[in-house]
Amino acid sequence: MVRVHGGLVIIILILLLQWCELPRRAHGRCVVFNFGDSNSDTGAFTAAYGLYLGPPAGRRFFHRTTGRWSDGRLYIDLLAEKLGIAYLSPYLESSGADFTGGVNFAVAGAAAASHPQSPGAIPFTIATQANQFLHFKNRTTELRPSGRGSMLREEDFRSAVYSMDIGQNDITVAFLANLTLPEIVDPDGGGPLAAAVAEIERAVRTLHGAGGARKFWVYNTGPLGCLPQTLALRQRPGDELDPAGCLARYNAAAAALNAGLAAACRRLRDELPEATVVCTDMYAIKYDLFAAGSGKYGFERPLMACCGHGGPPYNYANLKTCGQPTATACPEGERHISWDGVHYTEDANAIVADKILSGDFSTPRTKLEALCEC
Ligand SMILES: *[C@@H]1O[C@H](CO)[C@@H](O)[C@H](O)[C@H]1NC(C)=O
Ligand SMILES: *[C@@H]1O[C@H](CO)[C@@H](O)[C@H](O)[C@H]1NC(C)=O
Repeated sequence: MVRVHGGLVIIILILLLQWCELPRRAHGRCVVFNFGDSNSDTGAFTAAYGLYLGPPAGRRFFHRTTGRWSDGRLYIDLLAEKLGIAYLSPYLESSGADFTGGVNFAVAGAAAASHPQSPGAIPFTIATQANQFLHFKNRTTELRPSGRGSMLREEDFRSAVYSMDIGQNDITVAFLANLTLPEIVDPDGGGPLAAAVAEIERAVRTLHGAGGARKFWVYNTGPLGCLPQTLALRQRPGDELDPAGCLARYNAAAAALNAGLAAACRRLRDELPEATVVCTDMYAIKYDLFAAGSGKYGFERPLMACCGHGGPPYNYANLKTCGQPTATACPEGERHISWDGVHYTEDANAIVADKILSGDFSTPRTKLEALCEC
């Protein structure tokens, strides 16, 4: 039993109240609503399209198909574990969904903006995901009196963390449309990256306005130029590789999107003073995995996918991707950053999750657990 002076307890209580600006939640658990793409899709794409993402996906942890593009848990699953909530079920999963800890609106392939030059893109833009959230919130309110629906409380919506991890596919579709790097980056604000940033910013305002959201946790986009798929399929003769061996123009596009997003975060912080807007540098977290070489994290071949076709340097071949009979996976236990050439392994996701939780990559420097439990 630790004896604490009464005055000290009061001071600590006051500090806690100031930190949270709201009385502490009665049951002290987090609720998270997540918006994004395959980096945080826990099964929406397969539910939406009725697809089966078979083995070897899931071989490391779930041992069954879950619609996660990984051998195991995604970083968002590891965050859920740390926050003490259930893995976030996809909004689009109609059977067996568990929304007690929140909802996952992320869908693989989703871009922030809709890009007219890419008509084949999937329809789940960040604006659509935000609208789905508003629908979900309304339905919860409507059904609550009859004891049905998600049974999340109004205060759960108010105190929840709203996380976003989207933008990677905006870069992909822009390059696939054969736009040049200057056209994509377009500092005058007319390009596809500016559109992506504007849509993310607009989604925050929508969730804040119509949705009543007050805590935002926004990730910037990772180093797309380091992914085996990018390196294997998009590299052209004369293309520059950066010191980690990544495709420089793809990473330049990611950096440009991230600069725009950082500015958007500053604007949102100024304009929504009663909200907390934390922006987390996913690019720095992920780039470090590739740049560290084999030493720091034990990834012997940082740029080579575990599951794919063709062997070194990237083990990625079009139409022979992980899950196809023509692909093979590395032995279990062999450490890779990339699972299938596009998505991260559980080994990589675990490092990513730890770094997110450290708060060191967040502006302002805030810990997710502290934000969530307020
Ligand atoms: C939610 O309900 C509000 C008012 O009850 C309504 O104005 C709004 O359009 C609804 N939104 C959705 C997506 O259903
Ligand atoms: C982009 O360029 C490639 C190679 O020149 C071509 O095959 C492809 O059709 C072009 N894509 C679009 C969307 O124009």
